[in-house]
Amino acid sequence: MVSIAIVGGQWGDEGKAKITDLLSAKADCVIRYQGGANAGHTVMTPAGHFKFHLIPSGILFPETTSIIGPGTVIDPKGLWKEMQGLLEKNISLNNLRISGLAHLILPWHIDIDKATDQVGSTGKGIGPAYTDKAKRIGLQLFTFLDRWAFRDALEKSLAHHSFELERLGLSYDLDQVEREYLEVFENLKAHVADTIQELHEARKAGKTILFEGAQGTLLDISFGTYPYVTSSTPISGGACIGSGVGPAFIDYSLGVFKSFITRVGGGPFPSEIEAERETAQKLRQDGTLWAEYGTTTGRMRRVGWFDAVLARYSVRVNSFQSIAVTKLDTLDAFEKIMICTSYRDKRTGWVSEDIPCLNASWLSNYEPIFEEFPGWLSNTHGCNDIAQLPANAKLYLDEIARRLGVPVSIVSTGPQRADSIILHDPTQG
Ligand code: GDP
Ligand code: IMO
Ligand code: MG
Repeated sequence: MVSIAIVGGQWGDEGKAKITDLLSAKADCVIRYQGGANAGHTVMTPAGHFKFHLIPSGILFPETTSIIGPGTVIDPKGLWKEMQGLLEKNISLNNLRISGLAHLILPWHIDIDKATDQVGSTGKGIGPAYTDKAKRIGLQLFTFLDRWAFRDALEKSLAHHSFELERLGLSYDLDQVEREYLEVFENLKAHVADTIQELHEARKAGKTILFEGAQGTLLDISFGTYPYVTSSTPISGGACIGSGVGPAFIDYSLGVFKSFITRVGGGPFPSEIEAERETAQKLRQDGTLWAEYGTTTGRMRRVGWFDAVLARYSVRVNSFQSIAVTKLDTLDAFEKIMICTSYRDKRTGWVSEDIPCLNASWLSNYEPIFEEFPGWLSNTHGCNDIAQLPANAKLYLDEIARRLGVPVSIVSTGPQRADSIILHDPTQG
């Protein structure tokens, strides 16, 4: 029995889904605890190529219970589309559960997000839906169980936003919105469950539970590069508040890091490499199935060298016990690899391996200092045994572990399940 939080240590897209899917083989339950369809989680198996937005990556295992938790925000139409896509691929949804406490994304949330975004959001209505939750004017999913209460809540929500919607020139046919939502709810109804009870029962029965983070630590609303963040709490502590369990429930916190770093959307990025430089193009791996383009929006991801200062910060705010390093194979073609090992304060010249806080204006006072490491110039793609890795690749992993102060438990060398080296299996505690 073990409960593991799987959390992105960077700005998202670290390969969390690949790692979640890998560990799901031994899990009884997988829960998404925050975020919404801003996430794009890719899983490649011999049975196909899957892109999840809200459905937990454990869904490919029919015996595993997959939960969309209380801390998420749900666009019901988008979710139903995602469910239909899986049904068409003969993936069973019998064990999919949805918390009635999750908040609804309404059509105006999406339109307001698109019309007013200042950070390069995914345009999925995430910020406005979480804003309404915090303002205590949101609609929880279970509202729809009473259609009159649902109609009333819809009217109130629209009235709350009337000033802004008028300013933006947006209007809605409420009857149509109600009709469309109620129609979709008919399809979701069977999946709505008391997910808190399910989790606690699973724990009591000695089951293994995975908490699948979306986004990443540096996008966390409290601990990320504010204001260039998402509106939820991806860090491991968020697994508690987004699921309805206490800290003692979670036994293990696993951080997922790419062997370099990427970011989609706006915001500071100290170790960024200019998009058109040859190094950036090589890191993006254009033309491959795993090229660095957003899974949800298709936007080109910004790329940079591994930033150990930010990663150390991430380890701290998540209490990671070990880390998974993904996309090691992306570095195969580099003669030299850089790591950002410290920051220099531009005002005082002070150099440090640690940063106390990382909001965007604070970060702008620092410049990155890089150290060079020798590459391995040989193929690691698909390696599944540490003994197969070239010596310099092992040294690179050791260097990351040493700088972060936590061991590497999993190395990912390709997008498929089999492309993995498990040094320590977190499901074994
Ligand atoms: P997530 O949001 O953290 O789940 O990550 P994404 O799915 O958005 O992006 C990760 C991308 O890298 C996907 O295309 C994965 O198929 C791919 N991927 C994951 N691990 C590896 C790896 O070790 N090597 C390679 N080449 N691709 C990987
Ligand atoms: P996964 O789970 C990478 C980014 C957006 C934008 C900022 C705010 O696949 O790692 P939002 O729509 O959340 O209000 O956008 O956060 N962002 C992500 N970047 N991976 C994600 O999810 C992301 N989800 C949101 O690009 O900069
Ligand atoms: Mg992603």
